[in-house]
Amino acid sequence: MKIFLDSADIKEIEELVITGLIDGVTTNPSLIAKSGRDIKEVTKEICNLVPHGPVSAEVTAMDYETMMKEADVLRKISDNIAIKVPLTFDGLRACKALSGEDTLVNVTLCFTANQALLAAKAGATFISPFLGRLDDLGMDGTELISEIADIYMSYPEFETEILAASIRSVKHVKDVALLGADVVTLPGKVLKAMYKHPLTDAGLEAFNADWATTGQSIL
Ligand code: G3P
Repeated sequence: MKIFLDSADIKEIEELVITGLIDGVTTNPSLIAKSGRDIKEVTKEICNLVPHGPVSAEVTAMDYETMMKEADVLRKISDNIAIKVPLTFDGLRACKALSGEDTLVNVTLCFTANQALLAAKAGATFISPFLGRLDDLGMDGTELISEIADIYMSYPEFETEILAASIRSVKHVKDVALLGADVVTLPGKVLKAMYKHPLTDAGLEAFNADWATTGQSIL
């Protein structure tokens, strides 16, 4: 399973990329706004930090022609850019055109299995179902991942990867991993919460205390 960071915060990405566990980054207009940075500059810096993984940069236009122009600007930033398009009529059209030009495409704002089916037909590299936003409405985000996985599995010609997005908790990560999602994109705080456990901390404290009594040093 690939792990992407859902962030446009250079400090956060720098801090976590050194683990070697980060396979890519996803951004969106809200994350760019939060960064307070120019989209082209910050996206370039992110691409340099994760040179071997896709970095999703989202178009902001609503119509096909302008989406394609924006995509052309964004994909020139770096070879590892994936163009993020919304799951709309024009977004699907742009997805089909861009994937035909060998550009990586991430279709975003997916909330139904039928939307994911169309994105796969349009040649999306990634489909981004938003779990947390469905859960916020009292719906079941993980059920959506399960449905998409079943559909994609039935049609081997679909090569679209399921990129679980809008992840709010470590439980979400476990749930989508159990369902076989190809990728999960995580806010930094969720990634940090994944390795934390009080029994790990308590066990380490006890080991350190016992070790100190030996008076030994490995180095
Ligand atoms: O990158 C898109 C997605 O992960 C957004 O998450 O928390 O704003 O619903 P959220």
